[in-house]
Amino acid sequence: MTAFYRDNGSLMSDQLSLTALAEEYGTPLYVYNRGAIESAWQEFSKSLAGHPHLICYAVKANSNLAVLDALARLGSGFDIVSEGELKRVLAAGGRPEKIVFSGVGKTAREMEAGLDAGIRCFNVESPSELERLATVASAHGSKANISLRINPDVDAQTHPYISTGLKENKFGIGMDEAMTTYRRAAELESIEVHGIDCHIGSQLTKLEPYADAVKLLIEMVDKLAEEGIVLSHIDVGGGQGIQYSEEESSLDVAAWATCIREAIGERDLEILVEPGRYIVGPAGVLVTQVEYLKSNEDRHFAVVDAAMNDLIRPALYSAWQAIEPVETLDRTTETYDVVGPICESADFLGKQRELAIAENDLLCVRSAGAYASVMSSNYNTRPRVAEVMVDGDKSHLVCARENVDELFARESLLP
Ligand code: LLP
Repeated sequence: MTAFYRDNGSLMSDQLSLTALAEEYGTPLYVYNRGAIESAWQEFSKSLAGHPHLICYAVKANSNLAVLDALARLGSGFDIVSEGELKRVLAAGGRPEKIVFSGVGKTAREMEAGLDAGIRCFNVESPSELERLATVASAHGSKANISLRINPDVDAQTHPYISTGLKENKFGIGMDEAMTTYRRAAELESIEVHGIDCHIGSQLTKLEPYADAVKLLIEMVDKLAEEGIVLSHIDVGGGQGIQYSEEESSLDVAAWATCIREAIGERDLEILVEPGRYIVGPAGVLVTQVEYLKSNEDRHFAVVDAAMNDLIRPALYSAWQAIEPVETLDRTTETYDVVGPICESADFLGKQRELAIAENDLLCVRSAGAYASVMSSNYNTRPRVAEVMVDGDKSHLVCARENVDELFARESLLP
């Protein structure tokens, strides 16, 4: 069964209607579907079966404890970028030996937290970070397992803000510098060299950028082996794209896996992969209510109760996400800009959308399971919205709606 489908004109998730969920939990509301999260994870697991691998879900895409819990129960690993994400994974029952720690700016404290937990690997992004990690690990009396994140300078052919594998991006270590950094790492007492890593960008729908990057990484693996630095894993990052609009299609994960496996050939290298969006993106929607319909001459606006603080992707990346009425009702169709109540012209969820709606109707923003609730803020002192997980004929409140008092509870008046 698809995660979200129409039955007699009503949008459903498994056995539950989004209208009933909105009535029970209020709007705006994030709705996730457990089965969809699990089956997306299984796609990776099936396509990598037979080759040693570890799927490290990129926590940043959706770090809700229930999402992490569902994945931990499948045996997933996790890719984290902060001490906060580490704590979440552990709280959700994730295994430390399946955690990789990414990010360009790990603090000494975060490194200690990772060592305390006994995580599997630090993905080191600069020579300075390597030195810091060596010092921290040595003081900690332990050894840090590392891979170096390589910046292979390949074009991921995606939005510039989510492209990370070009020289102009802050991420990773350039190919030339990487060789010297590996030699240095091999000398350090408190460092154990395990792997090689890259992540060239997000929302990639083509295989070529992966093929190009992995080829370069494999060449480096071979060169290192000649020098006696033998790696045991290759982390190919995340970035697998999903279908937001009818014009694009998601990355073919089976073909992607074949491409990676062919590049590795007979080499004894475990594959690590860090998918985020692919696992949770299509498994979530944002349900919002139409407050007002208004027109400024020939431009029509649907003012809804969700805003850029709840879902910033359209404002930040000009991202297009499908918007449709939750119930198919007899209404006149009009072209609307779907906008929120925030005092910014960038506060829109979608522009120029053909919609048959009236005031008080519910709208559903699709593909809102990834980089949606996690990127929300309290701008305009708006409480963050509730999140529910649908599982068959049940729904579970997995994040309660914030209340306004909580929003300024940490602030104080002047003495
Ligand atoms: N690994 C690393 C090191 C990453 O930086 C990322 C995402 C991932 C894995 C997961 O990538 P994914 O499979 O989800 O594409 N907020 C943006 C996306 C930012 C992605 C940041 N890094 C958006 O809403 O499109």
